[in-house]
Amino acid sequence: MKYNDHVVLITGSSSGIGKEAAIKFAIEGANVVINCRTDVGEGEKVAKQIKQMGRNALCIKADVSDPNQVKRLFQESEEYFGTIDILINNAGLATPKPFFDITRRDLIKEFEENFFSMVYCSQEAAKLMKKRKSGSIINVSSICGLTGCTSILTFTSARSAVTGFTKALAKILAPNITVNAVAPGFTKTRFWDKQSQKEEKNLLATTLSRRWIMPGEIADVMLYLAGAKNVTGQILVVDGGYMTTI
Ligand SMILES: NC(=O)c1ccc[n+]([C@@H]2O[C@H](COP(=O)([O-])OP(=O)(O)OC[C@H]3O[C@@H](n4cnc5c(N)ncnc54)[C@H](OP(=O)(O)O)[C@@H]3O)[C@@H](O)[C@H]2O)c1
Repeated sequence: MKYNDHVVLITGSSSGIGKEAAIKFAIEGANVVINCRTDVGEGEKVAKQIKQMGRNALCIKADVSDPNQVKRLFQESEEYFGTIDILINNAGLATPKPFFDITRRDLIKEFEENFFSMVYCSQEAAKLMKKRKSGSIINVSSICGLTGCTSILTFTSARSAVTGFTKALAKILAPNITVNAVAPGFTKTRFWDKQSQKEEKNLLATTLSRRWIMPGEIADVMLYLAGAKNVTGQILVVDGGYMTTI
């Protein structure tokens, strides 16, 4: 098993892509810190599933946009598991709003949730990783941060910041710690639940694959990046070919 006895902390792992990544890392032998902001019941369910697989898991409720809660998240993780080998900065949420309605508060909130959180978590993880001179950080960005999604402009802007952050942090933490990002396209999670059939058809018609990306397909890329010791500072796009069509 590729990640036997590694400790992986995945922010936002009670649902969607994060949940799928937690299960896939556990299948590969890892122990996992599950994190969520509100739905601790769902987080506990993921932790239980991992324990039933013979791995260890700890569910910690913490809002990663709050630096004090991030400190507690890492303190409790370190107390329980001793260290963190792999950090996946996955938590995030896009809130649509027309450009002319966006307020200062909207900007701050979206940046706190979709970018500042990654900086706070990476600081705490890197302190632990530097002690052991090894580790991997994977940021979950979005094709929006690379192409510009007009209806979710604040999210788009925050995820653009993830590109520069990933590249700069890769330089700061080299040579022993890798830092990469995965930029998902249209991935079938609850985020898209409100789409009508027509909207879904139109959306998927913009891809080459003509189908949803499944959360497990993003998780597979995370499994690859966490172990690819000579890949760092990269943004790996998983979009079913969407970016070739625009
Ligand atoms: N789905 C897509 O098409 C797509 C495309 C591009 C990028 N992404 C990115 O992929 C990541 C995962 O998305 P998803 O579709 O899997 O979403 P999801 O199913 O809604 O899951 C989001 C997870 O993040 C947690 N979370 C949100 N904000 C948090 C915070 N501040 N602190 C701690 N946990 C928080 C949620 O916990 P609670 O439920 O407890 O709040 C939940 O576990 C996000 O960063 C998203 O922007 C998704």
